Amino acid sequence: MAHSPRKGSPARWAAVILPPLCLGGLLAWTAGAFSPSAISPAHFMQRFHNAGAPGDGFRRAHAKGMCATGWFDPSPEGQALSRSGIFKGKHLPVMGRFSLAPPLPYLPDNPAVARSLSLQIRSSTGDDWRLALVDVPLQSMRDVADAYAFFGAAKLNPTTQKPDPAAVQAYAAQRPWLKTAFEQAKAHQQTSDLTNDTYNSLDSFILTDSTGKKTAVRWAVVAQEPFSPAEGSGANDKNYLFKRLVQTLNQRPLRWDIVATIAREEDPVNDPSQPWDEADQKVTVGTVTFTKASSEDESPCGSMVFDPTILPDGIGVSGDPLLALRSTVYMRSYATRSAEHKAPSMVTPGDVTNPTLTTDGKGQ
Ligand code: HEM
Repeated sequence: MAHSPRKGSPARWAAVILPPLCLGGLLAWTAGAFSPSAISPAHFMQRFHNAGAPGDGFRRAHAKGMCATGWFDPSPEGQALSRSGIFKGKHLPVMGRFSLAPPLPYLPDNPAVARSLSLQIRSSTGDDWRLALVDVPLQSMRDVADAYAFFGAAKLNPTTQKPDPAAVQAYAAQRPWLKTAFEQAKAHQQTSDLTNDTYNSLDSFILTDSTGKKTAVRWAVVAQEPFSPAEGSGANDKNYLFKRLVQTLNQRPLRWDIVATIAREEDPVNDPSQPWDEADQKVTVGTVTFTKASSEDESPCGSMVFDPTILPDGIGVSGDPLLALRSTVYMRSYATRSAEHKAPSMVTPGDVTNPTLTTDGKGQ
């Protein structure tokens, strides 16, 4: 099946190692064809269009999604690390969006595709914390030039309507600094579901505590559900990941811990393509509980922008160049899609009220 590549096949490998906006393959990169300073958000919009983003009111990346609501309970350890009002609250409202990473709003669910989770957590005193996370372990780009090459090379072949799976190797081969990121992505074992997946910020952030002390962290939003591998999940339905999330939420709440990995002196804070030390301290700053799902066509999350630089006092950006880039590009995507007529999302309101799985491979 076109969208369910076998484990170890080139298509699966390409899909897994294209974080965070896993686009399924890359075309050869033309080194030196541009100067990073000349790259604008509009150029990125064109690249997403070439990679299959249809417009039609959808996000230019992470286009297929569904919303969830619940609350956040911070831990005392979170309050010790950051003076943000978010960590002083209790049962703070959370708006979430689960998505598949590619720019294709009608992509059938399949285990080879990277998944994502976005969160907005608000306090009663006006703090607004937005996170946009993916389930890959390390970023496969380190700066604007990498990002532009990455998305440019994801252009769809007009005949096959797929990117060239071989091209990812050219992208990687020209960037020895991404070796570990690609190795980790290849070794990453996908989970069976959205419900038991862990989602990572990849980019680093700076926490400031009540004394002014600063701590660099990377976030992981870690499922409390037990791990189970994607292989053998056996679902044929085109929306099986989203429908199974709804089915579980209809039975019980689902929880994720927000875990900060604390940077040590030697950890590269401004380069998301480099790993931190395995032995770094990990601190759970709180827990997100989701109780309800809704189609993005019926929820405010559909039109929200999860710009990761929208942060409360006490949580700040690091010097990672991708954060500033993401902010401008997300806002451009948001402005562009807001001006378009929105086509119906693939996960419909009906899938949420009646998430029956089909077994004929066609979905609904
Ligand atoms: C650490 C790296 C990154 C992570 C973890 C990440 C994650 C995400 C997530 C989770 C979303 C979905 C947001 C939602 O649910 O609304 C998203 C959207 C998006 N991302 Fe990224 N992303 C990363 C890097 C990038 C880069 C480098 C670009 C391009 C320069 C980019 C372009 C976009 C765009 C255009 C959207 C849609 C924004 C909107 O219309 O609201 N991302 N990203």
